[in-house]
Amino acid sequence: MKNIVILSGAGISAESGLKTFRDSGGLWEGHRPEEVATPEAFMRRPEMVLKFYNHRRAEARAALPNSAHFALAELEKHFNVEVITQNVDDLHERAGSSRVHHLHGSLFEARSSLDPALIYPIEGNSIEIGQRCTLGSQLRPNIVWFGEPVPMMEFAMSLSLKADIFIVVGTSLAVYPAASLLQFTPPACHCFIVDPIAEELGTPSSSMTLIGEKAGIGVPTLVKKLLSKRDQSTD
Ligand code: OAD
Repeated sequence: MKNIVILSGAGISAESGLKTFRDSGGLWEGHRPEEVATPEAFMRRPEMVLKFYNHRRAEARAALPNSAHFALAELEKHFNVEVITQNVDDLHERAGSSRVHHLHGSLFEARSSLDPALIYPIEGNSIEIGQRCTLGSQLRPNIVWFGEPVPMMEFAMSLSLKADIFIVVGTSLAVYPAASLLQFTPPACHCFIVDPIAEELGTPSSSMTLIGEKAGIGVPTLVKKLLSKRDQSTD
């Protein structure tokens, strides 16, 4: 079975009603990343940071997966599929994808401020000031903030190195190291970029196809093509 690796970003959840970061009206227009998405911001103004993520958690819980998430889950019937997502929502999982790797953490987990290995599920929608880990430190979202290491990166690189097909969906490829994963694909790998601005993100070639559509249209169409090609091939 061929290996398909997917790198998704906020754009795949846009049609589920969740804001992206860098589009007009996106999250980074209302908040500066250094005010809500750095360890320094959390030390300075923990209430503001918790409020930002509490709100996003409530929105993500209320959102539903869209046709792009569901189409990617379909691929698992015929391919080895690994989803590497920069998203902190759980829409890939709720659509049925079984191997989802969250590069930037999860909205639904809290973690110790002292020990990153102390992770706790969040039952309700919020982390409040005064909620502490077993070591006594204030709980924070289990999100990878700017300036912090990306623990999943090595594993994500190892998946990219084995990809036969690599699909990039809904990411501006502006944030590293996530954006570098494309560079780890083997020479024989075929890459697809699905994004309304795909032509700004890649250069078409024999190994790169740009699909300038929203995920809700572009991904199901691509999945249909991959599945029908798979049915016609003998491997
Ligand atoms: P961005 O907001 O940077 O990029 C969103 C991408 O989605 C853009 O390329 C849009 O063109 C595209 N897009 C918008 N609507 C779409 C749709 N309906 N279908 C498909 N694509 C669409 O979001 P990310 O690339 O995910 O990190 O951002 C990467 C990281 O930057 C995030 O994980 C977050 C942020 O700062 C942290 O918070 C650490």
